[in-house]
Amino acid sequence: MARRTKGGLTVIDHPLVEHKITLIRDRRTPTAVFRRLLRETAMLMAYEVLRDLELEDVAIDTPVCPMIARKLAGKKLCFVSVLRAGDGLLQGLVELVPSARVGHVGLYRDPKTLLPVTYYCKLPDDIRARTVIVVDPMLATGGSAADAVAKVKSEGARDVRFLALIAAPEGIETFRKAHPEVPVFIGALDQKLNEKGYIVPGLGDAGDRLFGTK
Ligand code: PRP
Ligand code: URA
Repeated sequence: MARRTKGGLTVIDHPLVEHKITLIRDRRTPTAVFRRLLRETAMLMAYEVLRDLELEDVAIDTPVCPMIARKLAGKKLCFVSVLRAGDGLLQGLVELVPSARVGHVGLYRDPKTLLPVTYYCKLPDDIRARTVIVVDPMLATGGSAADAVAKVKSEGARDVRFLALIAAPEGIETFRKAHPEVPVFIGALDQKLNEKGYIVPGLGDAGDRLFGTK
């Protein structure tokens, strides 16, 4: 898997990820295909986000002989979806790790101030014992991502990572200032934000495209 890491930011630039993000960006891509592509891209990106998970030895019997094999150690993963659009990535991650716990943080960005407004939060009780992956396709101003991660940390999570599909440089800067110790994984670093706070070239409004609400 191809990756470029600098200062806590990893751009996962595998050809399959880039190809799928191109299809996701395309305005002609219909809702059903957009959904499937988000799910598939999350699975591909998970490979990098989770590459350092700890393993432990377990004794098993294959049909041929006993062996000591390895599986994931201890209390494992928690995926936190930033509603609404985070659910598009969440689907793929849960398919990959069905035993993971799932939390939700509901946030929307006020269209005038561009500041995030929280309307919901439900996180697993044992979140502090888990590796937490917060997911949202878009890191634009960075306000929503920074608030969602602050919420997760305030519940005791210590090992937190953030996964987005597309980020703007402005959002990365804001997020890194707020949470310098939280690794960020993205599929593409775009040019800038426009006057409405949308990522350029981006993919438009991720929630609307995922749920077909506009
Ligand atoms: C989108 C996106 C992020 C946020 C990013 O959600 O899914 O959560 O905007 O913007 P920011 O980095 O400037 O905070 P939106 O506010 O449109 O809410 P929705 O998913 O409910 O449509
Ligand atoms: N939210 C989105 O869904 N898209 C953007 O480009 C910016 C914020």
